Amino acid sequence: MSATDYLERIPNNVSLKDNRRLLRALEEWQPKFLEWWRDMGPHGYQAKDVYLRTAVSVDTQGWAQFGYLRMPEYRWGIFLAEPEPNRAIAFGDHKGQPAWQEVPGEYRGTLRRLIVTQGDTEPASVEQQRHLGQTCPSLYDLRNLFQVNVEEGRHLWAMVYLLDAYFGRDGREESEALLQRRSGDRDKPRILGAFNERTPDWLSFFMFSFFTDRDGKYQLASLAESGFDPLARTCRFMLTEEAHHMFVGETGVGRIVQRTCELMREHRTEDVRAHGGIDLPTIQKYVNFHFSVSLDLFGSEISTNAANFYTLGLKGRFEETKKDDDHRLKDATYPVADLDGERVAMREQPALVSLNERLRDDYVTDCARGVARWNQVIARAGIDVELTLPHRAFHRAIGCFSDVRVSPEGRVISQAEWDARRDDWLPTKADEAYVGSLMQPVTERGKFANWIAAPARGINGQPMDFEYVRLG
Ligand SMILES: [Fe+2]
Ligand SMILES: [Fe+2]
Repeated sequence: MSATDYLERIPNNVSLKDNRRLLRALEEWQPKFLEWWRDMGPHGYQAKDVYLRTAVSVDTQGWAQFGYLRMPEYRWGIFLAEPEPNRAIAFGDHKGQPAWQEVPGEYRGTLRRLIVTQGDTEPASVEQQRHLGQTCPSLYDLRNLFQVNVEEGRHLWAMVYLLDAYFGRDGREESEALLQRRSGDRDKPRILGAFNERTPDWLSFFMFSFFTDRDGKYQLASLAESGFDPLARTCRFMLTEEAHHMFVGETGVGRIVQRTCELMREHRTEDVRAHGGIDLPTIQKYVNFHFSVSLDLFGSEISTNAANFYTLGLKGRFEETKKDDDHRLKDATYPVADLDGERVAMREQPALVSLNERLRDDYVTDCARGVARWNQVIARAGIDVELTLPHRAFHRAIGCFSDVRVSPEGRVISQAEWDARRDDWLPTKADEAYVGSLMQPVTERGKFANWIAAPARGINGQPMDFEYVRLG
């Protein structure tokens, strides 16, 4: 383990200066990254000072340093979690063997694809969110958006490091391609569906950070178990950053819910739109949308790819080492939701091909905990409404439910019923226009837009009226 080279042009804890070839590859990529960041990163704020945290080491104490900087000057770097001495592969056919420090030749293509797919999501979300700065509900939120953005940029660096360090020429080509695809582009879209959706307003942003960044957490957690040790260590450190993104999402939606409840009580009405709030039914529709598109990111319920990733030791389960079984799963089964004629039913399937569904289950449980916390906010306000997660078969575009229409309660319905009810379940153009109409920037220190409550506390112990972004 080398010390952190924070003063290098590319801060790192991977002894970059001792690897001339890799250093050259990354130094060639760096200006292209910055060009991408200037073109596709936060629009209109590149020259402003933002109060950001930067990763400066990987130990749990003090890995972050807070201070003002302009985003293009952010110290994007390469940080891997500390190596675990004598780490062994924890699952699959290679269980018990020493973790790989180099890519096993026969798994090269598969592993590269896994890394590229993860890497592609990182710049995609920056692109999706690049116009949100114009409509921020407060300086506090603006700063949080930018923190998420620069860290997604760093996650891209993390994946590009792996590609350049371990995959030779193919890896360098993939690193270039990561800067060429564009979210939502017709000719060169990002790889995964949810990362080509628009993030037009802050309600969508908070939902995205809650639901879609959480998919990232589960993907990273399974890759953190990988037998390919550099990938495992990279992902372990990325998870510490990811936690903040989900915090932004959960507290963002929570604060909107809180403000809605305040308006409901104050005006004794459920229709808070008249008072500039976002009504609970609209929030529910956004939950339905973002949850369902995020579920698709886990892939098909039955997947031989997922089985292969596991058997080959490339991608484990969430908290693999804590699971109490043989970590090979050749004879095990797992209950998977499936279509049984007109009903959704559970069926035992071979555990290996069911690993996508298993990861989705862990994810759903985690999402439900967050929704329960939003419901506490509603209950504390004395309001008798609950937000819910829709059924996993609702509004799916991937997997066994993609060919049927299913209600949020999990009832298979006709196309006619779907057409009649769709607008009750998913955001309509009118809902989006209403939410859009609320997106007026609030940039006065300590002030918050009318549709969202102030947070419980500031960033890094700073007061609420701190100048989180200097606009002057
Ligand atoms: Fe990320
Ligand atoms: Fe993230």
